[in-house]
Amino acid sequence: MTIPKTTAVIGAGTMGPGIAATLSRCGSTVRLNDIDAGVLERAKAGTELASQILGRLDAPEAPGGSVSFELDVDAACEGADLVIEAVPERLDLKREIFATFERVVASDAVLATNTSGIPVTDIAAHLAHPERVIGMHWSNPPHVIPMIEVVPGERTSPAVVDQLVATIKAFGFSPVVEKEVPGFVENRILYAILRECVSLVERGVVTQADMDTAVKWGIGYKLAVIGPMRLLDMAGLDIYQSVASYLNKDLCNDAEVSPLVTDRTGAGKLGMKTLGGMYEYADQDDVNANRSRIAAGLVAVRKTLQAL
Ligand SMILES: NC(=O)c1ccc[n+]([C@@H]2O[C@H](COP(=O)([O-])OP(=O)(O)OC[C@H]3O[C@@H](n4cnc5c(N)ncnc54)[C@H](O)[C@@H]3O)[C@@H](O)[C@H]2O)c1
Repeated sequence: MTIPKTTAVIGAGTMGPGIAATLSRCGSTVRLNDIDAGVLERAKAGTELASQILGRLDAPEAPGGSVSFELDVDAACEGADLVIEAVPERLDLKREIFATFERVVASDAVLATNTSGIPVTDIAAHLAHPERVIGMHWSNPPHVIPMIEVVPGERTSPAVVDQLVATIKAFGFSPVVEKEVPGFVENRILYAILRECVSLVERGVVTQADMDTAVKWGIGYKLAVIGPMRLLDMAGLDIYQSVASYLNKDLCNDAEVSPLVTDRTGAGKLGMKTLGGMYEYADQDDVNANRSRIAAGLVAVRKTLQAL
């Protein structure tokens, strides 16, 4: 398996359509499944939009791919070489659905989970063949962010890791192979940053708008070009050592989530989906305009970096 001939993507919510579009663009016959007919219907537009964005990105392309929409999980999985699970982040649900996969797919199919942090070992715990279960953690939006964390569980076979790495490279993304740690690497870094950001805004050190400016232009822009390990070389390890020796002690290490967030979640202010969170959104058009600007920015930055 490099590009899987047939891929089943299970769960057509936020992540499923972009994943399906990415695989189909590279020639895979993709079946996108959801238990909710309404979600599946909406996923048609989501998949089409993701395909258009992949076109704007000049993403790798191979003929023969397609996406079909399937309410029946058995039919979606039939003949699949790769199954990618993207159902809600609940261990019981994931365990149940992996038991279904084991019943319906061929014994050599790879079973991947897009879990954001549930240990792959736990998801595979009661399966007869845990060696073919592996974490495949896409970043949102999945068709735009070309990095996927590959996370083997304790019983995943090394051959399955190699197989998935080859597949990810074949559709033009960068695989990052990790050991199993809570949250995986990308989210550990993101949440460390977010904790410090929220703390500084809560303490009134900086306004939230200035926080966004500082991180976008002072850190994000730079980190899009140079990773943190090479950044250490660029800055000088001696400088890092002297600053970190006093600053690390002062950084936020709260175990609890800040009231700046919990007060809002308690009041039903969840962000763009409720037209208000850290910022307020006038209406759905305002949210859509924000989302479009973010998508356009991600496309532009990726194209620029790809050309370097
Ligand atoms: N949203 C993100 O930014 C993001 C990023 C990376 C990873 N993930 C992970 O991807 C997974 C999916 O996240 P999401 O944001 O797409 O969730 P979502 O809630 O948007 O979509 C999940 C979909 O799964 C469907 N579903 C529920 N039970 C099902 C079943 N038994 N069979 C088929 N479909 C079923 C639901 O109807 C829903 O449409 C989660 O594990 C999440 O942690 C999410």
